[in-house]
Amino acid sequence: MRFEQPLISSQQAIELEEKYGAHNYHPIPVVISRGEGVYLWDVEGQRYYDFLAAYSAVNQGHCHPRIVQAMMDQASRLTLTSRAFHNDVLGEYEAFMTQLFGYDKLLPMNTGVEGGETAIKLARRWAYAVKGTAKNKAKILFAEGNFWGRTLSAISSSTDPSSYEGFGPYMPGFERIPYNDLVALEKALEDPDLAAFMVEPIQGEAGVIVPDEGYLKKAAALCKSKRVLFIADEVQTGIARTGKMLACDHEAVRPDILILGKALSGGLLPVSAVLADDEIMLTIKPGEHGSTYGGNPLACKVAMAAMQVVIDENLAEHSARMGTLLRAELGNIKSDRITAIRGKGLLNAIVIKEKDGIDAWDVCLKLKDNGLLAKPTHGDIIRFAPPLVITEDQLMECSAIIRRTIEGL
Ligand SMILES: Cc1ncc(COP(=O)(O)O)c(C=O)c1O
Repeated sequence: MRFEQPLISSQQAIELEEKYGAHNYHPIPVVISRGEGVYLWDVEGQRYYDFLAAYSAVNQGHCHPRIVQAMMDQASRLTLTSRAFHNDVLGEYEAFMTQLFGYDKLLPMNTGVEGGETAIKLARRWAYAVKGTAKNKAKILFAEGNFWGRTLSAISSSTDPSSYEGFGPYMPGFERIPYNDLVALEKALEDPDLAAFMVEPIQGEAGVIVPDEGYLKKAAALCKSKRVLFIADEVQTGIARTGKMLACDHEAVRPDILILGKALSGGLLPVSAVLADDEIMLTIKPGEHGSTYGGNPLACKVAMAAMQVVIDENLAEHSARMGTLLRAELGNIKSDRITAIRGKGLLNAIVIKEKDGIDAWDVCLKLKDNGLLAKPTHGDIIRFAPPLVITEDQLMECSAIIRRTIEGL
């Protein structure tokens, strides 16, 4: 089937989605047709600052020319072989990534949630094969407020009813403790069947919840002392977003299993990766896990280019500096509507108190009208996470837009 009419207006595009698409999202009413760096344009040609960066997938900026070029070069040569055959890029990519992050091995997948699934399968298998856990007894511990995607396993660990309600029955063997609570962790670690603790170094979807300083370091040490694997879900926090290459780097923590996704491809296609050492990674044998697209040469080339951009453009350092500036600017806004400002690097959020019938959603609509796109989470939180390539001048302009919008309510 062909569309006889081209999409000519935002309204038409929205109506088509409404009529023919599943209703599993509630987007801000803007229809984007082009992106470059920190900018997005709608179909009417209106320009916006992107302050979401596709949930931190576009850290390198929209359509980064070096990543696009790498994709185009590889796309006309070889895109997919499946893992039934070797390809001439996967090994180079695995060597590049394991050297960059300091692990023995990498397991390539596509989406972030597949990275999480893979990490949990590895932890369970490691528990049986190495730790000596009795068959089917291995447990995985999560923090309340976690978000790692939408598969049945991911929602089984969730404490958010809008994620899990009405989709049961749920995956057994999952336990939860409060986030940022070392006493609860210590108690949970007494369980000899515990295989792993999987945690986000900063909880993104929960509303940019930054744990106390020292939490990650102590949590990782406690896990180590009980021979429980420390799995860091850095799908959102990783790849320079929080001002270091990994959020775990802020506390010099080296996770036993590291999950990366999102910005690993700079927003060009779904690429995720799980990194671990041989003792863990080699417990999964040929034929026991995989994905048709995982490790495809197109994704591998794109990921190498995307990571090289992060390194060459010093995006981690830049993110740290811009984040400090942004939080300072947000702190200067004179409004009792903002009840909290928090974040690290360029992963930030403000909490908006509803007043005069105006809530965080309305604030985002007003920001859009003023040329800046952001999206609320959990009703009252607005995340501010622009592409990391944002310049200081652009950041100051964005801060002025946010200030003008909120002070003008
Ligand atoms: C911390 C974290 N892990 C995993 C995921 C899932 O990634 P994906 O949507 O690519 O499956 C997300 C997505 O927002 C995330 O924030």
